[in-house]
Amino acid sequence: MAKRIKSLHTDLFDEAVAEFCHAARPVALTGAGISVESGIPDFRSPGGLWSVFRPDEFATVEVFLHAPERAWKLYRALGETLIDKRPGAAHRALADLEKAGRLQAVITQNIDGLHTKGGSRNVIEVHGEHQHLHCLRCESRRPFVTTDLADGPVPRCSQCAYPLKPNIVLFGELVRDMEKVELLLNETDLLMVIGTSAQVYPVASFPYAVREKGGRIYEFNTEETGLTPTADFFVRGKAGTTVEAFVQAVLQHEG
Ligand code: APR
Repeated sequence: MAKRIKSLHTDLFDEAVAEFCHAARPVALTGAGISVESGIPDFRSPGGLWSVFRPDEFATVEVFLHAPERAWKLYRALGETLIDKRPGAAHRALADLEKAGRLQAVITQNIDGLHTKGGSRNVIEVHGEHQHLHCLRCESRRPFVTTDLADGPVPRCSQCAYPLKPNIVLFGELVRDMEKVELLLNETDLLMVIGTSAQVYPVASFPYAVREKGGRIYEFNTEETGLTPTADFFVRGKAGTTVEAFVQAVLQHEG
């Protein structure tokens, strides 16, 4: 059962920091919650993207293949939420932890590119990225430009004229870089799980794979999830505050 940390700089928080400092190869796993403070709504919270667009009606590969016009309604709305967004304190804190040699990598479900913009180097985007469009027929790729967001015909491939889609993983498609992910999960002894509802597979299985090997689970979220009973520590609060404070405490502890 997770030890619940409701406020920072308490004995329990210090205990979590001290135990983190014994970890040899920590890794971070992030979801949409880490980018909410950057102004990007998540998916399943009230007012989240899936409350506007039903995923089964807009976000599956089947919808893209059979009704690209409808699929592009979602892609354009998603694209609008990503324009000119900056990394937040939590993104930057993870980059600082990596720079200090205390974080192996960030495995992210996010397509916003904010971990890399925040300074992280070893980032695995298992659900792809929204900065490019790609063609499922000829595999060509081009940058996503703001004119693609304007209402109008679906953008088409300049090579083969097939409808283009954002370089993201739609429901029904395989996630990316699973070999790299499995290597990391095999070696890590501590997984920081930040801002994810832990409901979408295969990513939702990652913490349990780490736990099965005796690894520790630290969960950071504004609310408890299905993972919380399995976590060692649950740190309640906004990631921009909790992750930043946690990383600062770790770096001071080791300083
Ligand atoms: N700080 C920390 N956690 C937050 C914050 C915040 N500021 N704001 C929201 N959260 C938490 C919510 O409580 C929720 O548990 O972030 C989580 C976001 O969950 P989802 O919206 O389900 O997003 P995510 O888990 O990333 O979704 C996984 O599902 O929809 C698909 O492909 C999409 O990558 C996405 C995947």
